[in-house]
Amino acid sequence: MLYIGIDLGTSAVKLLLMDGEGKIRKILSREYPIYFPHPGWSEQNPEDWYDQTVEGLKELLADCDRSQVAGISFGGQMHGLVILDENDRVIRPALLWNDGRTAEECDYLNQVIGKEKLSAYTANISFTGFTAPKILWVKNKEPEHFARIKKIMLPKDYIAYRLTGVHCTDVSDASGTLLFDVKNRCWSGEMMEICGVRREQLAEIYESYETVGTLLPSVARELDLSDQVKVAAGAGDNAAAAVGTGTVGDGMCNISLGTSGTIFISSKTFGVDPYNALHAFAHADGHYHLMGCMLSAASCNKWWMDDIIGTKDYGAEQAAIEKLGENHVYFLPYLMGERSPHNDPDARGCFIGMSMDTTRADMTQAVLEGVAFALRDSLEVARALGIRICRTKICGGGAKSPLWKKIIANVLNLKVDVIESEEGPALGGAMLAAVACGEYKNVEEAAERIVRIIDTVEPDPALAAKYDKRYESFKKIYPACRPLFAKL
Ligand code: XUL
Repeated sequence: MLYIGIDLGTSAVKLLLMDGEGKIRKILSREYPIYFPHPGWSEQNPEDWYDQTVEGLKELLADCDRSQVAGISFGGQMHGLVILDENDRVIRPALLWNDGRTAEECDYLNQVIGKEKLSAYTANISFTGFTAPKILWVKNKEPEHFARIKKIMLPKDYIAYRLTGVHCTDVSDASGTLLFDVKNRCWSGEMMEICGVRREQLAEIYESYETVGTLLPSVARELDLSDQVKVAAGAGDNAAAAVGTGTVGDGMCNISLGTSGTIFISSKTFGVDPYNALHAFAHADGHYHLMGCMLSAASCNKWWMDDIIGTKDYGAEQAAIEKLGENHVYFLPYLMGERSPHNDPDARGCFIGMSMDTTRADMTQAVLEGVAFALRDSLEVARALGIRICRTKICGGGAKSPLWKKIIANVLNLKVDVIESEEGPALGGAMLAAVACGEYKNVEEAAERIVRIIDTVEPDPALAAKYDKRYESFKKIYPACRPLFAKL
């Protein structure tokens, strides 16, 4: 049989066709626009997501035996607020995971309601990108829209709804709403009350590998598929990426270098970071995970290459980098503010340490290193909790660069296992569909049988020691700039 994974990303939707043995038959992606109506705000049109998904599905299926397609599932950008009216029409553009407009609402949740209560109800505190403060923002700033809300949805769940007619979500994505009781895997009554949300406005909760429905007859006709094709709930993109890289069960780690950068640690037991710097979320394998999320990772390199230097040849720019561990230039990668561990929507990107002999290559290197140092900030929080991690998987667009993988291995002092396919969330989505259809007994079995490690990048002790020293300096830059950021 064949399974489709849909990774609803921030810059594009990626579609992947996988067979029952886990072999990837075809991958393609289709872009859609992102809008920044004010500095620090970011929005997309859910209809663009759906239109590109359907067009992409037609292309994906163009030369395959469609009668073999058994299931579809998702990885999706998390936290986005999609609001539907009584006719299930989108009320306004979605507010995305990297949107920083809700500082006031976050302060209300974290200071007035209080972090202790939030953490007790949901295992997390409020960050500007989370869904609950966005709901409060709409309530405060656009009451006419708030009054019309019939359903509150997350990005990938809007696609599942358009494909099946079912208002559903999954435990991993629901975890990022701050309306979800992560430990007990259900909506939190207290949080609904705090946000002025009614239960019937929220979707039904499923485990990521559970079937939510089958294709609507009209959709099945448009795609020339059977209306018996199953649609499984899927997962937030990080949990789906973890499935796609085999980061399931206990104590496994995955780093995703996409638009955002995440460090994801799987756990069979529920646990909370007492400082809430790391998110404590449900995992797509039926268990839990801790995660640090930086808002700009591969997007920093893309910004530096495409918009500032003006090149598409990332490889050539990286080939000019010669001296790892000896760069005097530092880069703070906070182009959209920062989530983990600083929780500061006002933070901004900056270069520091340039002199007359600084080269373009030094600055490119600083961008790659700055992202690695910022990931290390989250890893250090996990280490301080007593979590021992000595190796990680890696996925996402940034993981295609051998140099960046080497920098990550040495800055974080971790063995980096390279897997056969770096298509984290899209592959994870297809694997969840295969589990829902009974091809595999459970998510762990699917990961064991499908994911293959093809190489390991080992840290070099001398280089890791150099980076340890540089990290000591990096750590001091943000606290020094913080008072300025608040005024910028
Ligand atoms: C995770 C997060 C990002 C988005 C990116 O908390 O906000 O990784 O899911 O798509």
